[in-house]
Amino acid sequence: MKPDYDEVGLWSEMKLEIERDYATEYSRIMSKQRLTHIYIDAFAGAGIHLSRTTGEFIPGSPLNALMVDPPFKEYHFIDLNGSRTEQIRELAGDRADVFTYEGDCNTVLPSQVFPRATWAKYGRALCLLDPYNIDLSWDVVVQAGKMGTIEIFLNFMIMDINMNVLRHDPGSVDPVQIARMNRFWGDESWRNVMYDNTGNLFGWDEKVAGNEVLAEAYRKRLREVAGFKFVPVPVPMKNSIGRTIYYLFFASPNATGHKIVEYIFNKYRNKGAA
Ligand SMILES: C[S@@+](CC[C@H](N)C(=O)[O-])C[C@H]1O[C@@H](n2cnc3c(N)ncnc32)[C@H](O)[C@@H]1O
Repeated sequence: MKPDYDEVGLWSEMKLEIERDYATEYSRIMSKQRLTHIYIDAFAGAGIHLSRTTGEFIPGSPLNALMVDPPFKEYHFIDLNGSRTEQIRELAGDRADVFTYEGDCNTVLPSQVFPRATWAKYGRALCLLDPYNIDLSWDVVVQAGKMGTIEIFLNFMIMDINMNVLRHDPGSVDPVQIARMNRFWGDESWRNVMYDNTGNLFGWDEKVAGNEVLAEAYRKRLREVAGFKFVPVPVPMKNSIGRTIYYLFFASPNATGHKIVEYIFNKYRNKGAA
């Protein structure tokens, strides 16, 4: 099989390090308890990437997770692209603790994977929600939050939102893009966060807020609507010219997880990319 991989920038390498560091701590702590802790990579990718900085191959999040010691009890990797799930299967060899799914994680997670991490089954899960864009349904995030057993890392793809949804004139936005945003956000309340019609005589909607305000409003929703008890301020992942590509969020029902991620996030906060 011809290897399939993405070329990634320094911000992706930082994200991979953050997630790897936390997965290692998480598995170490959970292994000491009588719980079934599982790892879920919902937008798993190919398992390896080509580093734009060094030109070398580097492990993607699935491979990093498979190398965590002590290991998770189960690994669940989902990708829409069948050649990528196949590649992960090859990387995993004959490990019986690895499950791969070719499909849309917005349907696979609620139907096949989250039910393995219920309170009744003494399940716990660390779930990565790492899309290229905003094609992640808020319903999935809410289900994870309400279960009380799942911790998530989530890429809040502000670049996709800025390019396709948050125009100065909201009337010029393609309805398809509005529908994507509503699905990602869970309703239309992002409009009230970003637009106001009281600043002009004509009652036109005008964009009045920026990236940080939108990210903070999403953080509030993770706590107040999805029900995650702990949501640290996300880390802005920036490209070489300092533009934020996405915010890396963590959300958890667990105070210890929160404390560890705060510590890791603070090491990387505002580092940006070289
Ligand atoms: C940013 S890459 C994942 C990178 C990987 N998590 C890592 O850090 O190594 C996003 C992946 O999501 C997959 N994808 C896109 N939409 C999806 C969906 N709805 N469900 C599952 N996978 C999806 C793409 O095929 C792509 O491989």
